[in-house]
Amino acid sequence: MSFEISLYDPAQSYVGQKQFDCGNASINSFVHGSLKPQVKKSLSVAYVLTDSAQEHCFAGFYTLAQHMIDVSALSALELGSLPRKIPCSRLIMLGIDKRYQGQQLGSRIMKHALLLTQTIAKQIGGYGLYLDADAKAVAFYQKLGFVLLEGDLSPEPSPMFLPISAIKTLR
Ligand SMILES: CC(C)(COP(=O)(O)OP(=O)(O)OC[C@H]1O[C@@H](n2cnc3c(N)ncnc32)[C@H](O)[C@@H]1OP(=O)(O)O)[C@@H](O)C(=O)NCCC(=O)NCCS
Repeated sequence: MSFEISLYDPAQSYVGQKQFDCGNASINSFVHGSLKPQVKKSLSVAYVLTDSAQEHCFAGFYTLAQHMIDVSALSALELGSLPRKIPCSRLIMLGIDKRYQGQQLGSRIMKHALLLTQTIAKQIGGYGLYLDADAKAVAFYQKLGFVLLEGDLSPEPSPMFLPISAIKTLR
């Protein structure tokens, strides 16, 4: 199978976007209805994973935006002296269609998001990547090095963070 990751273009139609099903109802409904207008308004950028063998079908995606967190949220990471407000990138949404899960594609698209975070940090500054993890996805993010900021809050989303210094060491 051959997959591509590209910048989501809201002016383009994607085969399979309206049928996207990652098993999470709110993420599905975001892809079906809100993804296009969000990106059109520049509220976030999105990258889409497409299956070249299936008419470039919409197989997965993530959205990213700029964010600011209070330094107190990072106390679990023991990062030393920092200013009170910390600029970072934020992963807002992530999903892989059920038909494509379990093939390292979630991990692949996340590495793309981490590289983008690194590029943003070099160009405009940013201390790392923040996200609010769905209870079922906490272990997935931990495998990539993300640290829980306030303990596991499941069934509520759990805030997690990966500092830029840790991203640099990823391969
Ligand atoms: C979470 C999600 C993106 C993972 O995508 P995926 O393509 O199935 O994951 P991968 O195949 O890349 O898995 C990478 C590793 O994480 C592990 N993993 C994947 N999902 C996991 C989960 N929910 N819990 C624990 N481990 C998980 C895999 O076993 C694999 O481990 P390995 O490297 O030791 O083999 C996908 O299951 C999904 O879209 N879920 C529904 C939406 C969702 O929860 N999004 C996140 C909201 S914050």
